Amino acid sequence: MKTLEVQSLNKFFGRKQALFDVSFDIEPGTILGLIGPNGAGKSTIMKSIVGLTDYNSGSIKIDGKELTKNKRSSLENVGSMIESPAPYLNLTGRQNLKLFNDGSTTAEEMQEIMDETQITEFADRKAKKYSLGMKQRLGIAISLLNHPKLLILDEPMNGLDPQSTHDLRDLLVKLSKRGISILISSHLLDELSRIADYYVVINHGKVIKKSDAKSFLSDGLKNIRIEVSDMDKAMNILSSEGLSPVIYDKKIEISDNDEGTALSQVIELLSQSEVQILDVTRHQEDLEESLLKILSEDNSKEAK
Ligand SMILES: Nc1ncnc2c1ncn2[C@@H]1O[C@H](COP(=O)(O)OP(=O)(O)O)[C@@H](O)[C@H]1O
Ligand SMILES: [Mg+2]
Repeated sequence: MKTLEVQSLNKFFGRKQALFDVSFDIEPGTILGLIGPNGAGKSTIMKSIVGLTDYNSGSIKIDGKELTKNKRSSLENVGSMIESPAPYLNLTGRQNLKLFNDGSTTAEEMQEIMDETQITEFADRKAKKYSLGMKQRLGIAISLLNHPKLLILDEPMNGLDPQSTHDLRDLLVKLSKRGISILISSHLLDELSRIADYYVVINHGKVIKKSDAKSFLSDGLKNIRIEVSDMDKAMNILSSEGLSPVIYDKKIEISDNDEGTALSQVIELLSQSEVQILDVTRHQEDLEESLLKILSEDNSKEAK
C-alpha cells in the first residue's frame, strides 16, 4: 500500500488558483523530493496534506485512508515541519520535545532523536536563543516524535550550514531505510540530489515532471550542441530527419541516441546541405541545469 496518495488536488486562494490537479504518491520507505521555485506551491501542497489549509477538490490518502474533515486519525502517523519551525520560544528544546510527545515516545527514544538531530548540546537552552539552524533542527526533532510513518519536511535545509545539511541528509536516508516515507521540498535540487528516490517538479502550481532519480539524472545527459552558419536551414534539415533539434542558448541542441551515432548523422546531413558547422560540443548536463531547462520550457509554454 502507498504511504501517501495525492490525487487531482486543486486549491484556490480567493480567485487565484494555487494548485492545479496535483497528483503523486509515495511508496513506503522512499524519499520523494518536491522541487520547484519559490511560489510554485510546495508549502501549499504540504499544508493541504497535514490539514493546515483546506483544499477545494481532490483526494489525499495516507496509508490508504482518505483524509476527511476529521483528519486526526489519518494524521497520527505523520510528522511534519512546514514553512518555519514553530517551537515555543520560552521553553527549552527538551521541554518542547516533551510537550509534543503524545506519550508514545520513551525517554530513551527522545534521547536518540536529540542525538540524531544534534540538538542535545543545546537542549536545555530556551528556544528563543537558538539560531535559525538550531530551530530548524529542533523542528526536525519534533517531527520525529511519536513514530511517524510519513515525514513531511518543507525546505528543512534552509538555514543549515553545509555540515548540518550533510548530517540531515544522512539521517533522512537512515530513516527511509527503516521504512519511513519522506516528502521533502526544496527550491534547490542540489540539496535533494543525493537522497531522493523520486522527484516531482512543480511550477506555477502544476506538476511538470515526475521521475525516478535514476532517469531524472540521465535525462538529457548527453547532448550535442552545434553552432552553424544558417540556423533556420539547419533546423529544417534536422527536423525533417526526425532529430528533434531545439534552439538553446543560440545553439542547436540535439539529444544523442544511446549508441552515440547522432553526431555523425548531424555532420553528414549538414555538410550535404552545405550548412557550415562553426562549432560542435558534446554536453553533459548536470541536474540543476536540466531542472532549469525543464522550468524555462514550462515558463515559455505558459507565456504563449
Ligand atoms: N495564505 C495565502 N493567501 C494567498 N495566497 C497564498 C497564500 N499562501 C500561498 N499563496 C500563494 O500560493 C502560491 C504558492 O505558494 P507556496 O505554496 O507558499 O509556494 P512555495 O512553497 O513553493 O514557495 C504563491 O503564489 C503564493 O503567493
Ligand atoms: Mg514554501
